[in-house]
Amino acid sequence: MTDSRPVSVLFLCLGNICRSPLAEAAFRSEAGIAGLDVLVDSAGTSNWHIGKAPDKRAQAEALRHGVDISRYAARQAVPEDFTRFTHIFALDGNNLSDLEAIAPNEHDAHLSLLMDMVPGREGTGVNDPYYGGPEDFEETWADVSAAAQALVRRLIG
Ligand code: 4NP
Repeated sequence: MTDSRPVSVLFLCLGNICRSPLAEAAFRSEAGIAGLDVLVDSAGTSNWHIGKAPDKRAQAEALRHGVDISRYAARQAVPEDFTRFTHIFALDGNNLSDLEAIAPNEHDAHLSLLMDMVPGREGTGVNDPYYGGPEDFEETWADVSAAAQALVRRLIG
């Protein structure tokens, strides 16, 4: 976190209806507990679900952890994201490659995998739960909340 600008964080997955909204929710929750005031959002690499609320299973999982994400609306990542956010966290390796492919030639955003935040999980992706069941959404929450906690610790540390 060597950038001198205030930290701002974007979470990025494919559809912006499962993993990245859960990452946003977990981070908002952890940041709130820590009293951190950080600009945070999520987006997708695809345009498939623009304007839609998160997947019902993601909504249910977030609510189990006390966060209502029913009013989140999916959007696609745009070039301005690379200047608006200091840090963009991709949920998996495909998302990171797609992110790098749309990055403007010059930008200051730090692009990385979300799980790089978690010791022992560096270089790994968060599994896509879209074709899975509730247990897969539980696993997604476990991953993104571990990363959110680690990120908040770094930001306050
Ligand atoms: P997400 O999950 O990238 O975590 O939001 C997906 C959502 C939708 C699709 C795939 C993954 N889809 O194929 O529509």
